[in-house]
Amino acid sequence: MAPKVRRVGGVVRPPGDKSISHRAVMLAALARGKSELLGLLTGDDVKSTARVLRQLGVDISAIRDRATVRITGSRLTAPGARLNCGNSGTTARLMLGVLAGQKFAATLTGDVSLRRRPMRRVTEPLKQMGADIKEGGDGLPLTIRGGKLRGLRYSSPVASAQVKSAILFAGLTGQVPVTITEPYRSRDHTERLFAHLGLGIHERDGAISYQPSAVSIPSFTVTVPGDISSAAFMVAAAVLADGGELLVENVGVNPTRTGILVVLERMGAPVERINLRDAGGEPVADLLVRPAGLKGTEVTAAEIPTLVDEVPVLAVLASRARGSTVFRDVGELRVKESNRLELVAANLRAVGAKAEARGNDLYVEGGDAPPKGRVETAQDHRLAMAFAVLGRVEGADVKLSERKSVAISYPGFFDDLRKTGAR
Ligand code: S3P
Repeated sequence: MAPKVRRVGGVVRPPGDKSISHRAVMLAALARGKSELLGLLTGDDVKSTARVLRQLGVDISAIRDRATVRITGSRLTAPGARLNCGNSGTTARLMLGVLAGQKFAATLTGDVSLRRRPMRRVTEPLKQMGADIKEGGDGLPLTIRGGKLRGLRYSSPVASAQVKSAILFAGLTGQVPVTITEPYRSRDHTERLFAHLGLGIHERDGAISYQPSAVSIPSFTVTVPGDISSAAFMVAAAVLADGGELLVENVGVNPTRTGILVVLERMGAPVERINLRDAGGEPVADLLVRPAGLKGTEVTAAEIPTLVDEVPVLAVLASRARGSTVFRDVGELRVKESNRLELVAANLRAVGAKAEARGNDLYVEGGDAPPKGRVETAQDHRLAMAFAVLGRVEGADVKLSERKSVAISYPGFFDDLRKTGAR
């Protein structure tokens, strides 16, 4: 466990954005010619996307720290074996969209956690477009045979960037028009990358449309910004300290992802964004974070899509705040890498805090007793990281059931967490 810190200090740089990394690798695989990707996440999830695309005949150089990843796009070819998406929901769901436009059959599977996650939210609209999908239930494994698709207008019942992106990728590979509406705007990285590459993407009154054109996807060079979902853990560690300040460099601050900063400000911890710039159509900034006394808040249903992966760490912060916090309408957390809704509450209780899931809402009571107890991460990277941060507060004694899962999205997490302690 990283040492307890009263003062934070120094500079950390979170790894590349997971969502953007997946999309950039997929688009480079579909593009004509050689693309170069910089700043890509080297976590296991992105390696799953690369592995699956290599099985489909794409040439992708090794994904290593600080390496430029070179991808030579080509026509995808039928795989010789099942496509194993590992732990990655984004790989499975977005690849279903990519495969919907291919004239061959492919079977997708994944690890125990991924095989439990719902796929019908994506297979339903893809079937409406004409993809032939054989599924045993609402999950993996399943077999998709793409081919000639028809256009689709789809009103998604969930605000999910994975659903939206799968449909956009199907429109792209099947060369058919698609229009999607969603209850709340989910992260828009696919739309931004499409626009960056000059692909026909438009938004009108909240509806996202892709219109195919005769031009093929051009190869490209892109620099992936740091992941705000990973930065969130460093920000939280700094907020919980007693003094000092931490600079978190090179963080993507796309407004569909910055809900955590909005909520932190409301809780009494404003985070300064400095050195604002652009990387491949995405806004990027450095974050300057100072410790703060927190107060509880209500996180609304409309805010959830902008911070959906940050609920575990925000709940941890809420357990150290004055007063109570409620997260409205977070039922989606039940179908993430683990049942995060129940596990966040159960683990907070396991370390002595008050928390409970009531219907689709999550309630957390703030307090200042040192957290002590054993946390079951269920191999979920974001639970492991959120509770590792809690384990750093004064007097804490928090034992994690495992630490390896952090490699999914933040391989250097424990080193970075250690680095935030002021010397
Ligand atoms: C992601 C979208 C979100 C998020 C996941 C990554 C993406 O899932 O939780 O970690 O890259 O599109 P949903 O779209 O299912 O909400």
